[in-house]
Amino acid sequence: MDKEEFRKFGHELIDFIADYRENIERYPVKSQVAPREIFNRLPPKAPEEAESMEEILDDFRQIIMPGVTHWQHPSFFAYFPANASYPSLLGEMLMSALGAQCMIWDTSPAAAELEERVLDWLKHEMSLPGTWSGVIQDTASTATLCAILTAREKHSGYQINQKGLSTANYRIYCSSETHSSIEKAVKIAGIGRGNLVLVEVDEKFSIDLTALENHIRKDIADGLVPLCIIGTIGTTSTTGVDEVSGLSALGKKYNVFVHIDAAFAGTALILPEFRYLIQGLEDADSFVFNPHKWMFTNFDCTAYYVKDKEALIRTFSILPEYLKTDNQGLVNDYRDWGVPLGRRFRALKLWFVIRRFGMEGLREKIRYHISLAEWLEQEIVEHPDFELMAPREFSLVCFRWSPSGETDLDSWNEKLLQHLNQSGAMYLTHTKVNGQYTLRIVTAQTDVTMKHVSGAWEKIMDAALQLRKASLA
Ligand SMILES: Cc1ncc(COP(=O)(O)O)c(C=O)c1O
Repeated sequence: MDKEEFRKFGHELIDFIADYRENIERYPVKSQVAPREIFNRLPPKAPEEAESMEEILDDFRQIIMPGVTHWQHPSFFAYFPANASYPSLLGEMLMSALGAQCMIWDTSPAAAELEERVLDWLKHEMSLPGTWSGVIQDTASTATLCAILTAREKHSGYQINQKGLSTANYRIYCSSETHSSIEKAVKIAGIGRGNLVLVEVDEKFSIDLTALENHIRKDIADGLVPLCIIGTIGTTSTTGVDEVSGLSALGKKYNVFVHIDAAFAGTALILPEFRYLIQGLEDADSFVFNPHKWMFTNFDCTAYYVKDKEALIRTFSILPEYLKTDNQGLVNDYRDWGVPLGRRFRALKLWFVIRRFGMEGLREKIRYHISLAEWLEQEIVEHPDFELMAPREFSLVCFRWSPSGETDLDSWNEKLLQHLNQSGAMYLTHTKVNGQYTLRIVTAQTDVTMKHVSGAWEKIMDAALQLRKASLA
């Protein structure tokens, strides 16, 4: 491909992207293809000869697009969003064009320094502890793995890095509601899934601090070593919130590393009214949130903050001859702040987003998303055939259809979910709350408006009515 062809198709693709986003509501939110359908339409062998961009783009439209679930559709209410926005797309495009591999300061000084500056901005805007240091990771899962590995190395005097794991008596604590990435990190870090203690939660799905302390004390009495507590601000099922000050106090009392996972809900900390959630964070050790979820910065972009950057660096540092530079110690070489050596220039898209929205623009959008959830929550509370399944904290509403006289509510709600998702009009996912099948609706997609939320609610009520009628007929 030469420059002229690149220019031609580049312009065409920008038009395609703008049209796609403008007309996104014409697509079914959730892809409707059957398993293996896309795979079977693709040739079994790679092409021997170069193909034209026309052919490739034609196949993209015909074969690939039907198998895409449209995460940027404003009626995407599933999981937590992975939001993009126009400024982030432009940043991502430039990032790809520069193609810089930002493993150390020397390989792109602007990448290292912009990353430091932008994460300092967010630290200030979210009132995170002023002396903490930030680094961009690919995902929250990786950041949590970094936290557990740092806790392990700090506790062992960096000896496990040297000698390997000889004892496996470390214990990690989190609530029964925490994300599966904690379990994964515990497995990878060699701690062993059996040493992950899932602590009970209260009626608001917050970790029970008394139960946590009892687990810690029992473990100490049994000769086990409490290593790390992981708290959550915004659990995946219900956006429950653990009390950070209580976790920090226990961390201090028992000399245990405390990591806070705020992957989705962390963005809400740009609103002063949510700052109370991180009271006591200065006594914890690390904190993670995902701009790629609710801060309109397309996947992937995770912000990880640590109190003791030396401990993080010591955990991950490597220094082969070919990576030595004259600037050692003077600059941030982020290769030592996490797992991969190679790093993308992710700070660029985050910088574009923060500047183009402005902090006030970001705050306005987050508040609006929360107001949509508040509205829906009220509708559900007032409807005789629906019920709220968990307290609403941010922009997630957990509910179920509970028509009077029906008993098997799990299967009714499962049917309702399938029906709604197959309609293509919206995409919702489910969870279990206290063992009961529960629908989740997250009103946090970049472009979601009241029209989408009220439209979804109308369709939910209507679909429930139709299902009931069909069962009686
Ligand atoms: C609370 C929580 N933590 C961690 C994660 C994992 O995020 P990531 O995909 O960035 O690893 C999620 C994903 O939804 C989450 O909800």
